[in-house]
Amino acid sequence: MSTIPLKSLVSDPEVLRRLLEGSGISAPEEEGEIFAAWESSRRFLSELIPRSGTLLDYGCANGFLLRCLQEWCPHTIVPYGIDIDAGRIHEARRMFADVPENFCLVSPDDIVREGGFPREFDLVYWAVGDNVDFSEAANQRWLRTIYELTAPGGRFVMGFYQSAEANQAKLAVLSALGMTFAEVVQNPSSSDELAAWIDA
Ligand SMILES: C[S@@+](CC[C@H](N)C(=O)[O-])C[C@H]1O[C@@H](n2cnc3c(N)ncnc32)[C@H](O)[C@@H]1O
Repeated sequence: MSTIPLKSLVSDPEVLRRLLEGSGISAPEEEGEIFAAWESSRRFLSELIPRSGTLLDYGCANGFLLRCLQEWCPHTIVPYGIDIDAGRIHEARRMFADVPENFCLVSPDDIVREGGFPREFDLVYWAVGDNVDFSEAANQRWLRTIYELTAPGGRFVMGFYQSAEANQAKLAVLSALGMTFAEVVQNPSSSDELAAWIDA
């Protein structure tokens, strides 16, 4: 078995709708707009991948974002994913049937449970949940642990998908904690998504 071509995944509206729901977003009602809406919310992330290498999507859901980034980015992405949702990890392993071992189920208070899973990646992407409050010490420790999965010379990218105000508020807390990003990138297609990166 090998990785499923993206074209065949997105050509069936029902499959696409399921994939988006499995990625944690509700698809718009209008069929023709489903993939366009997803693409306009995520494609800007592909610009933040500077070179070929391993990419860990921390909170990878069903792997659909990774699969799309492989398509949108000119560099070769070796996909890795971690999630706490067993069903979504199962789907990600089906999506990347040639490298199922690259997808790891963790418990909420664990980062990587399975032996043999790499401890460092060329790029680590973390889409921060809306409910994560970085003024809490536990979340600061969590952030550090995820950041430390970035290989020396690699890139750590944080994504924020809430609202322009809420995203800026999260950045302000991180900045007050001393985190200095190399760049903060607003999704040019929407004010709801923003990403910020730092090179390790
Ligand atoms: C909105 S989806 C993000 C999917 C994809 N990364 C993206 O950016 O579109 C968030 C995922 O994070 C996972 N998640 C939540 N808490 C987690 C934790 N403590 N460790 C790992 N994954 C977690 C959820 O199960 C969910 O699949």
